[in-house]
Amino acid sequence: MIRIAPSLLSANFSILEAQIRQLERGGADWIHLDIMDGHFVPNLTFGAPVVRSLRPVTRLPLDAHLMVREPDRLLDDFQKAGVDRITVHVETCPHLHRTVTQIRTLGLKAGVAVNPSTSLSTIEEIIPFVDLVLIMTVNPGFGGQKFISTMLEKIEQAARLVESASQPVELEVDGGVDEKNARAIARAGATVLVAGHSIFSKGDIRRAVQLLRKAATE
Ligand code: DX5
Ligand code: ZN
Repeated sequence: MIRIAPSLLSANFSILEAQIRQLERGGADWIHLDIMDGHFVPNLTFGAPVVRSLRPVTRLPLDAHLMVREPDRLLDDFQKAGVDRITVHVETCPHLHRTVTQIRTLGLKAGVAVNPSTSLSTIEEIIPFVDLVLIMTVNPGFGGQKFISTMLEKIEQAARLVESASQPVELEVDGGVDEKNARAIARAGATVLVAGHSIFSKGDIRRAVQLLRKAATE
């Protein structure tokens, strides 16, 4: 059963509660939070204070995607802010095993993300210690970009990698996901689809979530 995790990056930040209500009505499974520090990626978005104010608004799991240079420094803050999961980029974690262990010690689900040009070989050894692998299908830092089609094969490889784990590992795909490519991405093995632009750009958020799920499960 595919999970839909809309990214708030493309939401209207002045009415986040109302937009989250729409996501819930559309049947969203998680809320994907794109945390960007303006260093690891060019954009700067929002941090733990905003997440803390969002926590009481929804019961949906908060899925924090840390696109930051030093994620270790932020783990406690996001745990206190109420997130359920933290995904860090392998490209920012020289001591990745310690980082994902720390996330789990905080009682959260741990995820590792790889950029389009980063090989899956960089995360082979960490698979036994994570709950999620995030395959970036755009270069991180912006919403509304085009899905990099060569990533489909990487998703298939990643599916084989997570299937080999002895614990359940979600395979999340993030970047340029829409109702046109959702089916292929799901068939390649993705279990969670992140989408920002394709959810928030159509005017009817509720409908867009339903459309994306329908497209993925057809
Ligand atoms: C990009 C973020 C993605 C992005 C997805 O750096 O990690 O979550 O917001 O948005 P779309 O679906 O617009 O590519
Ligand atoms: Zn993201």
